[in-house]
Amino acid sequence: MLDDKTPTYPPSDEMAAAAHIDRAKYDEMYAASIADPEAFWSEHGKRIDWIKPYTKVKNTSFAPGNIDIRWFEDGTLNVAANCIDRHLAERGDQTAIIWEPDDAEAGAQHITYKQLHAHVCKMANVLKKMGVGKGDRVVLYLPMIPQAAYAMLACARIGAIHSIVFAGFSADALGARINGCDAKVVITADGAPRGGRVTNLKDNVNKALLHCDDAVQCLIVKRTGQQVAMRASGDHWLHEMEAEVSNDCPPEEMGAEDPLFILYTSGSTGQPKGVVHTTGGYIVYASMTHEYVFDYKDGEVFWCTADVGWVTGHSYIVYGPLANGATTLMFEGVPTYPDAGRFWKVCQDHKVAQFYTAPTAIRALMAKGNDYVTKYDLSSLRILGTVGEPINPEAWNWYNEVVGGKRCPIVDTWWQTETGGHLLTPLPGAIATKPGSATLPFFGVHPVVLEPTSGEEIHETATEGVLCMKDSWPAQMRTVWGDHARFEKTYFSDYKNYYFTGDGCRRDADGYYWITGRVDDVINVSGHRMGTAEVESALVAHEKVAEAAVVGYPHEVKGQGIYAYVTLMEGQEYTDDLRKELSDWVRAEIGPIAKPDLIQWAPGLPKTRSGKIMRRILRKIAEDDFGALGDTSTLADPSVVDDLIENRMNRK
Ligand code: WTA
Repeated sequence: MLDDKTPTYPPSDEMAAAAHIDRAKYDEMYAASIADPEAFWSEHGKRIDWIKPYTKVKNTSFAPGNIDIRWFEDGTLNVAANCIDRHLAERGDQTAIIWEPDDAEAGAQHITYKQLHAHVCKMANVLKKMGVGKGDRVVLYLPMIPQAAYAMLACARIGAIHSIVFAGFSADALGARINGCDAKVVITADGAPRGGRVTNLKDNVNKALLHCDDAVQCLIVKRTGQQVAMRASGDHWLHEMEAEVSNDCPPEEMGAEDPLFILYTSGSTGQPKGVVHTTGGYIVYASMTHEYVFDYKDGEVFWCTADVGWVTGHSYIVYGPLANGATTLMFEGVPTYPDAGRFWKVCQDHKVAQFYTAPTAIRALMAKGNDYVTKYDLSSLRILGTVGEPINPEAWNWYNEVVGGKRCPIVDTWWQTETGGHLLTPLPGAIATKPGSATLPFFGVHPVVLEPTSGEEIHETATEGVLCMKDSWPAQMRTVWGDHARFEKTYFSDYKNYYFTGDGCRRDADGYYWITGRVDDVINVSGHRMGTAEVESALVAHEKVAEAAVVGYPHEVKGQGIYAYVTLMEGQEYTDDLRKELSDWVRAEIGPIAKPDLIQWAPGLPKTRSGKIMRRILRKIAEDDFGALGDTSTLADPSVVDDLIENRMNRK
C-alpha cells in the first residue's frame, strides 16, 4: 500500500473549481486550525445560531486525572431551532426529509421544513405532557421512519437527552440501555417493516420493560397498524396524544455543554458504554463536516443509507444535513429489496447528489452484478462516500467505475461514535484519493501515530503504529454516561495525554492515513462495532456453555465475521443441533448482528499458565494463518493448539 504504484485520483479541474474547498484553501485552513484552534473555531462556531453567543471557545484537557472537554462553554443555543426554525423564513416550503419506505410501491413522502416544525413541536409537547423535561432521558427504538427524526429533534427542542437503540437489538439489549440511562420514556412503533418482513417492536419493548421500573412510559407510533399488546398503564399512542397538543413549542435555551444525546457503543470489555455528546460543539462540527466533506450545495438531495440507530445516522441523516438546511433522504428498507437495484432506483427517482454508504453494502451489491446499477440513470450523483470499515480496493474501484461512472470523487470517511463526526477524510474538491485510504485530517484534527509499546510519537511521515489524537475537536465525546472514570480509562490511559482511537494505522510518504483495523478486542461486522466480550458473555450465559472465546476473521462481504470457540459443560454433547441453538441464542440475547458465523467446538482453549486465554493464537487459527502462530511455549497445554487447528471450521 505504501509503494508508488498505488493509483491516486485527483479531483477534476471542474470539481476543484466549483467545490467549497480546493487544495490551496484546505492547506491554508488546516494550517490555521492547528496553529490557532481558538481563533479558527471562534470563527466557524458562527455557522450555528446562538441564543447567547460564546465568549470562550476551547477549554480542553487530556491531562491524566483531569480529562475535561468543553467547547463554546458559555454559549447557549437550541439544536432543533438550528435544524428547523432558522430555515423557516427562507426555505419553509423546501423538502427537509424525503422518506422512502420499505415497500417500493408505496411511494415516497416529502416533508417540508414547515411540516417538520409542526411535527417536531407536536411531539415535543406530547413528551412534555408525559412529564419529560430538560435533562430527562428518552430511549428511541424505532424503524427508519420520519418520526425517528421528529423524536430526536423533539428531545433536542425541550432539552431532553435521547438514546437511540438500533431496532435490530434484542429486548435484553434494549432493557439494559433503558436502565443504563434511567429513561423516563421509550418511543417505539407497532412494527418495523424491513425487506418485506415485519418485526414487532412493541413486543420487544414489552419484554424489555419487564426488567425496568414500572414508571417507564411508552409512546407508540402507528407504522404498520398491526395488533400490539398494550400494557395496563403507561402506554400511549402518539397519534392520540398529538390530537390533544398544540403544534407550537418554544425551543429550550440549552448550554453548549448540556448533553444532546447518549449512544451506546461496544468496547473491548464488559457492557457497552453510553457515549455522551453535548450540544454546541457537536452541532458546529456535524454541520461543518456535512457541508465540506460532501461538498453539499443548496437544493441538493443528500442520502446517507445508515440507520439512525448508529452515529452515522445521527450526524449525517439528521443533525448535520438539517442544520445546513439540506434535503436529507431517509430509507426504511434494505439494499436488496425488492431487488439489488433498490439503492440505484432511489438515487435515480430522487436525483440524489451525494450518496453515503458502507463498504459491506458495496461488496454485497457488487456481487449481484453490474446490470442492477447500469439500468438506472445515476447522472445526478456528484459525490460518493463510505464509512464504517476500511474499503478494499476492488470494492472502491467498482464504486468509482460502475456507480460513479468515474465522475464522482469518493470520500472514505474515518471516524467513530466517540468522535461525533469525520476526523480523517478527503474533501472532494481538494484531496486526491487513493483507494483504501481515508487520506488526511479534517480541519482542527491533529492525528498522531504512536509506537504501540513505548507510546512514543513517531515523527517520520511514512510509518505504522496506533492512531491517536493530540488535541480535542468540537464534536469529541465528553464522557461515558454515569462513569467518567471509565471514559478516562478507555481513551486516555494507555497513551497519556492523547485520545486513543483503538485503531491501528499506517501513514504513507504523502502523509495519507490507512486504517488497518482495531487493535483491541472490538470487531467490525458489516460496519457494525461488536465487542467480542459481549458475544462471549452471551454464549456463556447459555446453560450448556462453560467457556467461550470470540474473535474476528476475514469475511468477503461483512469485512469481518464472528468466529466463536466454545467449550461445553462437562457431560454435554457436542452436536450440530447445539451449534445452531447457540447461534440462535446469541441472536436472541443481543440481536441478529451478533450471531456467530462459525462456532468451533473447543474442548480446550489455549491458556497461559496463569489462565489467560491467548486470543492471538485463536485469531490466527480463525484467519487460517496458523503457520505463524508465534511462541506457544508459554501455554499451559500446547497440545490444545494442534487440536484446534485440526478441527478448525471451513471459512468458505
Ligand atoms: C472503523 C462509525 C476504516 C474503525 C462511524 C473505527 C473505519 C470504528 C472507517 C468506529 C473507515 C470507521 N475506514 N475503518 N473509513 N470508519 N471505521 O463507532 O475501526 O460504529 O474505530 O463509528 O469503525 O465504529 P463506529
